[in-house]
Amino acid sequence: MFVESLKCIECGREYAPNAIVYTCEACGGLLDVTYDYSRLEASQLLEIWSRRPLSVWKYQELLPADSSRKVSLGEGGTGLHRCSRLASKLGVKELYVKNEGENPTGSFKDRGMTIGVTKAVELGAKATACASTGNTSASLAAYSAKAGLPCLVIVPSGKIARGKLVQAVAHGAKVLAIKGSFDDALREVRKLCEKRGLYLLNSVNPFRLEGQKTLAYEVCEQLGRRVPDRIVLPVGNAGNISAIWKGFKELRELGITRETPKMMGVQAEGAAPFAHMILQNLDKLTPLDKPETVASAIRIGAPVNWSKAKAAVVESKGGVTVVSDEEIVDAQRELARLEGLFVEPASAASIAGLVKMLEQGVISRDETIVCVATGHGLKDPDIVVRFYEEPFEVESSRVEEVVGRVLGCG
Ligand SMILES: Cc1ncc(COP(=O)(O)O)c(C=O)c1O
Ligand SMILES: [Zn+2]
Repeated sequence: MFVESLKCIECGREYAPNAIVYTCEACGGLLDVTYDYSRLEASQLLEIWSRRPLSVWKYQELLPADSSRKVSLGEGGTGLHRCSRLASKLGVKELYVKNEGENPTGSFKDRGMTIGVTKAVELGAKATACASTGNTSASLAAYSAKAGLPCLVIVPSGKIARGKLVQAVAHGAKVLAIKGSFDDALREVRKLCEKRGLYLLNSVNPFRLEGQKTLAYEVCEQLGRRVPDRIVLPVGNAGNISAIWKGFKELRELGITRETPKMMGVQAEGAAPFAHMILQNLDKLTPLDKPETVASAIRIGAPVNWSKAKAAVVESKGGVTVVSDEEIVDAQRELARLEGLFVEPASAASIAGLVKMLEQGVISRDETIVCVATGHGLKDPDIVVRFYEEPFEVESSRVEEVVGRVLGCG
């Protein structure tokens, strides 16, 4: 391990890498894990990595947890799918989807949780906790179960997708459903962690984001040590865009790549405080009181990582866009029917955002584009029930009679 410290991104104060601290005690700023990159040699790293399979822990030299004690379910190593049918429909030269639904619990959160829960074990935590729009709780519940740690999750009642809730329950987490929003849940769980010594695993936890940055390393490797022109991804609490940007910056810092991609964040119309801050060129984020969107995973009004994410967009010369719920569901359907990839609505926001940014001329059609599909479509089956055509109900004796009509061939 080459970790140096936990460093406040606002005032620069440093904390020991084994401190249990989530935000700066001096100024409240977010913390970042720093490394001594001078001790890491690119050719040596590439040689070691070439002997390991694609996975989060492949990159253990750039991770802050002890690999000999890892709590792992086989996370990372997800497919980077070339989407030629969708690309040709959109008139785009080279389009890929990084399908994070292929992770053990069906979302990118597993990349972070394997590191975060390993860290919890290293630090001697007695229990883990998080607030969640669904995927974080599903993932934390599974990794806590693997580690033998009790897990508490707080979710906004009635507002998380069914598939995600059942995962948390199945893995034995204690689930508190509160009357309120995700932002209320996060505030409460942060207080609880302070008071009761539970180990907090929301994306404000700097170790968790380190696991998530491995998506950048994988994309680069899967493209044959090439960096795409754009990464397009949904933004909720704004941790993932920050983490992936850090991954690409590290590759450049180490001399493994020369370029970095432009980071493009996509938010849903009714939950877009981050996009509005960027589009209006504001210094600070104004939280939104009642966020609303069909994409429940990104129904967040006060993204905690906004300052890291702002740096990601600005430093990478990226951008943001806002999409409607209808555009999200249309994009989900297109991806499922043209490419065989069934992703949840929040994930489809990346495709919807790409479509919009192509129309606006923000992204040009000859670029190499990677959309991150953050979670599996089965997480939220009710969306399909609500927005898609129903199956034909028919008496078995009438199948022959109606089949032509169903297939649209008379
Ligand atoms: C499927 C999915 N996509 C996107 C996000 C947003 O990620 P972030 O909160 O890191 O911006 C989440 C967060 O819960 C998610 O579950
Ligand atoms: Zn500080």
